[in-house]
Amino acid sequence: MIKKEKPLIVANWKANPETLKLAKAILSGIKSVARKYKNVEVVVCPPVVYLQSLKTSVRPLGFGAQDIFTERGGAYTGEVGFEALLDTKIRYAIVGHSERRAIGESNASINKKIKIALGNNLKPILCVGESKRDESLEYLQTLKEQIKEALFEVSKNNIKNIIIAYEPVWAIGKSAKREASPKEIEEIVIFIKRVVSDMYAMKSLPPLKILYGGSVSGANANLILKEGGVDGLLVGRASLTMKTFAEIIQNIQ
Ligand code: PGA
Repeated sequence: MIKKEKPLIVANWKANPETLKLAKAILSGIKSVARKYKNVEVVVCPPVVYLQSLKTSVRPLGFGAQDIFTERGGAYTGEVGFEALLDTKIRYAIVGHSERRAIGESNASINKKIKIALGNNLKPILCVGESKRDESLEYLQTLKEQIKEALFEVSKNNIKNIIIAYEPVWAIGKSAKREASPKEIEEIVIFIKRVVSDMYAMKSLPPLKILYGGSVSGANANLILKEGGVDGLLVGRASLTMKTFAEIIQNIQ
């Protein structure tokens, strides 16, 4: 029997919390939950400014960035060159989150970032998701485009190092319209796998991991993992307190 991999639970803190002190407190809570429940793999993606300080005591957590800049370094005021990011020893980088797409991130720049991440031994977590669903199924076309353009000229060999997070924009954050149902998620997981296997003319399912993100909570995490066909979860708000994060992890047991 093939041993099933542990579910991957990624905490996306976005631009939270306000201070390093608070960040350390949240992290210590998350760490104690991760230590207690060893059948999940937990990755924390804090604001980049906290990375060096939080990484003093990493185990059993993995760390990631919420984005990666397209340039190594240089005259780019306000940016963080990717070499500096690599120096923090992170292992993951979220790329193409809808909140970055909303401020102008293009599929072409996402593609560049994916290649930079892969070329530097980081696992990119590529976020894809439609902003609304329409009866003519136009949103599937949007998803397909996001995937194909993000993976343009990425080698077949590298597919196993890629994580795709399905994050329907309408299900994300405080203003979410509603939660996505496990059935809706499962359909998209199948769709994503089909798009990738067609792209690379694969005979079997592509070896990539697929996560779901958007209003994940202790109440829905287990059902999404069991019935949504995903390998893990990308968690925003609920990753910001030990209580809500622990509810998710306990619920998965
Ligand atoms: P949410 O955010 O869990 O707060 O909906 C998820 C995300 O944007 O990654």
